Amino acid sequence: MNATVNRQILLIEKPSGKLGSEHFRMVDGTIPEPGDGEALLRVRYISLDAANRAWMQGATYRAAVETGSVMAGGGIAEVMVSKAPGLAPGDIVFGDTGWQDYAAVPARHLTKLAKIEPLTHLLSVYGIAGLTAYFGLLEIGKPKAGDTVVVSAAAGSVGSIVGQIAKIKGCRVVGIAGGKDKCHWLTSELGFDAAVDYKDGAVFKALKAAAPDGIDVYFDNVGGDILEACLPQMKTYGRIACCGAVSQYDGAPSAHGPRGIPGLIVVKRLIMQGFIVMDFMDRREQALADLQSWVASGQLKVQEDVVDGLENTPKALIGLLAGDNRGKRMVRV
Ligand SMILES: NC(=O)c1ccc[n+]([C@@H]2O[C@H](COP(=O)([O-])OP(=O)(O)OC[C@H]3O[C@@H](n4cnc5c(N)ncnc54)[C@H](OP(=O)(O)O)[C@@H]3O)[C@@H](O)[C@H]2O)c1
Repeated sequence: MNATVNRQILLIEKPSGKLGSEHFRMVDGTIPEPGDGEALLRVRYISLDAANRAWMQGATYRAAVETGSVMAGGGIAEVMVSKAPGLAPGDIVFGDTGWQDYAAVPARHLTKLAKIEPLTHLLSVYGIAGLTAYFGLLEIGKPKAGDTVVVSAAAGSVGSIVGQIAKIKGCRVVGIAGGKDKCHWLTSELGFDAAVDYKDGAVFKALKAAAPDGIDVYFDNVGGDILEACLPQMKTYGRIACCGAVSQYDGAPSAHGPRGIPGLIVVKRLIMQGFIVMDFMDRREQALADLQSWVASGQLKVQEDVVDGLENTPKALIGLLAGDNRGKRMVRV
């Protein structure tokens, strides 16, 4: 290994409002020595996730990210040196590598992956995004053929896969996304039956027009006002899969919404359940087999949004929070 420098992006300040590039700094660090049970990794692709921003707000399903440390984030990496049984140089792994060129990570925190082409699919359809869409929709939303399924952040990495799986299951699918272009893409390219542009105002009315008979399953990626618009339009015995709340992550949350809880939930006998994809990892192989067969048959289109250069990682996350991504965003390091 000839490299001597480990470029790292530190979180130097937690944002009180919107995330900006001033909250990060790139530094030249050293390449770490792996300890016993660890592997030295060369990071290849960093996953950009809305949750990266949520981790700055405090502990969630993982510890909060702290100022002065390398920004946390999942990544696909190649093993360079291994001091752990079961891992060898050249292996491809997924883990919390952080935003840097090299990381020494305990092997027990790494998942060894099959070497597939393109490698990027390991972060998108066969990674957290695809598995979240698969388990969240099928296990929590429990769609049946003929159901109306609504998904928010529908042109994003999780949402674009949720809508397509719902179509595969024979549902009528409505996506909610920001902007005409994204909405057009959902219906013309991904096969959604209808799309609602939430940036065009009056989401409740537009949703009513797109799903006139009501909603059986709402896959909620955003929370806030859009959840509030969906709640009264749920059918009796509808299911809401609470995947995330991206509308609340960056800056001040909206002053109101969602109202109607618990009243509407009681009257309509709704099931509203949160989930974390990690809870389903013991069934990962089954999910991957289904996802692979849908990709192979052309029923599931994979949309990836690859940004080049570690130095562009902060900008890529800031942009994702503002909706400038389509499908799974990642950075090629
Ligand atoms: N529960 C789990 O295990 C799990 C696992 C992975 C991800 N997640 C959640 O899944 C959701 C999607 O995350 P992702 O990483 O895949 O990101 P993503 O959907 O690829 O990107 C986030 C999207 O959110 C939309 N957005 C931003 N602000 C919004 C607002 N105020 N209202 C409505 N939409 C807004 C933007 O699209 P527009 O242009 O449409 O605004 C943006 O493209 C997040 O809530 C995340 O926390 C949960």
